[in-house]
Amino acid sequence: ENNISVNDLILPIFVTEGKNKIEEIKTMPGIYRYSIDKINNIVNKASKVKIPLVAIFPNTPKSKKDIFGSEALNENNLVCRAIRKIKKNNPEIGVMADVALDPYTSHGHDGIINKKQVLNDETIKILSKQAIIQAEMGCDVIAPSDMMDGRVGIIRKSLDKNNHKDVQILSYSAKYASSFYGPFRNAIGSKQKSKINKKTYQMNYRNSEEAIREVALDIKEGADFVMIKPGLPYLDIIKSVKDNFKIPVFVYQVSGEYSMIKNGIKTGILDNESIIESLISFKRSGASAIVTYFALDIAKKI
Ligand code: PBG
Repeated sequence: ENNISVNDLILPIFVTEGKNKIEEIKTMPGIYRYSIDKINNIVNKASKVKIPLVAIFPNTPKSKKDIFGSEALNENNLVCRAIRKIKKNNPEIGVMADVALDPYTSHGHDGIINKKQVLNDETIKILSKQAIIQAEMGCDVIAPSDMMDGRVGIIRKSLDKNNHKDVQILSYSAKYASSFYGPFRNAIGSKQKSKINKKTYQMNYRNSEEAIREVALDIKEGADFVMIKPGLPYLDIIKSVKDNFKIPVFVYQVSGEYSMIKNGIKTGILDNESIIESLISFKRSGASAIVTYFALDIAKKI
């Protein structure tokens, strides 16, 4: 009934400052951060196995972070440089980039804050500028992962006004406030000393109907695809979104899921087939594409 092909896979790539760097991420064995001069290394591999889309995530140095996330609007930030480089050297591959402030804020929140409260309406104005800059660099898919309300609409309008009608929006519509993002926050250096609480904008894991409302809003505002995140603990959400809407539903198999399976295999508790089994479960639930740190390994196999 179900199967997986390379066309289903989106590969996340972490980028970092410096030169000649390929450093393994401690919390994510087998996953590396690349300095811009070294990203060809992984992009060429992805291209060779015909992965259609890569997603760029920056490990911004602390010195470039501030409470406003200003670095998000710098045309020479890590993400912008990575997009330009990939589009120049590997025009055959699609590039996706997140729209959110968390890689750039000193407090690690996805938006600007006042007394620990995220300011929704002020944040989405900044996000729409971030989206335009990324589109200008050649980004094919803009992926708002911030979970502010109304950001898809304002981003769509700004993209259209700025001659980026063809740039697509993949909205992280149902993104849960999840403990499974731990290794990722370590990878991009957004981890704080004490665990940060994103529960005023990311979803409560006790809710499923709210996911339907979130998706409905994003489609109305102009999303081309919607994403459910994390993956394995939320298969029911993928299925009900797929059943309720005629739109491609993507899923993000997040860092915590990756590290659990990877460590299971490493210690001999799981075998390799657990990877494919987890990916097929997304297809079975109705996913059209999967963002996964296993993308390269699995693409080679299949
Ligand atoms: C934040 C963002 C997160 C991930 C992708 N974009 C985490 C967060 O909300 O802190 C997580 C991905 C993963 O865990 O693999 N905008």
